Amino acid sequence: MNFAAIILAAGKGKRMHSRHPKVLQPLAGRPLLDYVVDAAAAVAPGHVHVVHGFGGEAVQAAMQHRDVHWAHQEEQLGTGHAVEQALPGVDDDRMVVVLYGDVPLIRPETITRLGEQAGADGVALLTVHLHDPAGYGRIVRNDEGRIIAIVEEKDATPDQRAITEVNTGLLAAPAGRLKTWLRTLDNDNAQGEFYLTDVVALAVRDGVDVTAAAAESIDEVSGINDRIQLAAMEEALRRQRAEALMRAGATLADPARVDIRGNVSVGRDVFIDVNVVFEGSVVVGDDVRIGANAVIRNAELAAGTVVEPFSLVEDAVVGEDCTIGPYARLRPGARLASRAKIGNFVEVKKSEIGEGSKVNHLSYVGDATVGAGVNVGAGTITCNYDGVNKHRTVIGDSAFIGSGTMLVAPVEVGANATIGAGSTISRSAPEGQLTVARSRQTSIPSWQRPVKKDTGSRT
Ligand code: UD1
Ligand code: CA
Repeated sequence: MNFAAIILAAGKGKRMHSRHPKVLQPLAGRPLLDYVVDAAAAVAPGHVHVVHGFGGEAVQAAMQHRDVHWAHQEEQLGTGHAVEQALPGVDDDRMVVVLYGDVPLIRPETITRLGEQAGADGVALLTVHLHDPAGYGRIVRNDEGRIIAIVEEKDATPDQRAITEVNTGLLAAPAGRLKTWLRTLDNDNAQGEFYLTDVVALAVRDGVDVTAAAAESIDEVSGINDRIQLAAMEEALRRQRAEALMRAGATLADPARVDIRGNVSVGRDVFIDVNVVFEGSVVVGDDVRIGANAVIRNAELAAGTVVEPFSLVEDAVVGEDCTIGPYARLRPGARLASRAKIGNFVEVKKSEIGEGSKVNHLSYVGDATVGAGVNVGAGTITCNYDGVNKHRTVIGDSAFIGSGTMLVAPVEVGANATIGAGSTISRSAPEGQLTVARSRQTSIPSWQRPVKKDTGSRT
């Protein structure tokens, strides 16, 4: 079926008490609206329309990378009026699905099911039964059980208020008919708004089939109005994603204490300790162990790697059986071959670390190519920046860099070279040799340590 999606996103969201439009509030690190656009684009690629109003420019700016059509709703005169703003851009023969920018967890399958429920020329509503239907539009059915109208809570009679089947707000209707119906809407109701929901009675009047599709989960159709609901949804999403990791083969020390703000894939027998945060796109191989309080952002951790607690791994590719941390920082462009070891208080940026090489303590390795089997001693620093430009350090296979070495780039250390501890290396160190660049040690036998004069007065 040819779908078009119209996403209503004009609301200010007063109850957020925010300078920012509600649909830009972040859920697991992404704007609410981004989720809805994703789901809509999966069903109606190239035919996603967003109705913006409050903070429209900010909304457009935040979504500029998305392929959506924009419609502006100057004043919020109701959901029917909002949909009307987008309709001129929709061909009559499309099946329109209306979504809300503040209902983020809607799934493409549900949107498709709703559209298919409408058939070629009918109207379909996504409905749900709630123990406490307060605040929602009620689905009114006749004696044969056929839907005849939606009545908003504020316009409902006591009998109608007792109905527990409610309108989630999501509906599907043919664009051509919607255009006709919306043109005739009035705002003669308790809220003085043009209700989208009034099209149901108009469809029934025109002999168009109105049917319901049931929402499968409450989370999927839940809207967000305040920060308490936002936090609750964050929790629901965290739970969902944690369960997906567990199903894929990861043990989580505590599923309530892992944050997944992106796409994470895991292999088998992965162990994730408490308070680990994943961001962006992360790939975790078999048998990987991630220690408490680690943050992994846009990274690949190959099989068998161990990330010890309190480490930050960002835009990095880590080979098999590596050890990172505790307290290590892999910055963008860090690439570790298998069995590399990056120890505590070590920072690695834009560098390749060869197979089995070790940088175990308190070092900075930036803009470097480190060969295989290299040992970088404690406190070694690649001095890669001259204040203007960055320069590279190249270290050959099996080199041994003594502790406290300054490698003043651009500089090269040959294979099997040994650098004496405390050296400042600013010229190439040849392979296989010991290079020492530090002042010679001297001792002064006649030297006297200064002593304090004893004044005799004690206070
Ligand atoms: C609406 C439905 C109600 C349903 C409920 C589900 C109508 C008349 N009522 O009520 O049946 O049970 O949703 O949550 O449709 N919006 C605009 N422009 C407007 C008005 C609204 O963009 O002029 C957007 C809002 O930002 C929001 C969505 O549409 O994302 C729903 O609007 P809201 O005012 O929350 O509708 P409800 O009164 O809750
Ligand atoms: Ca609402």
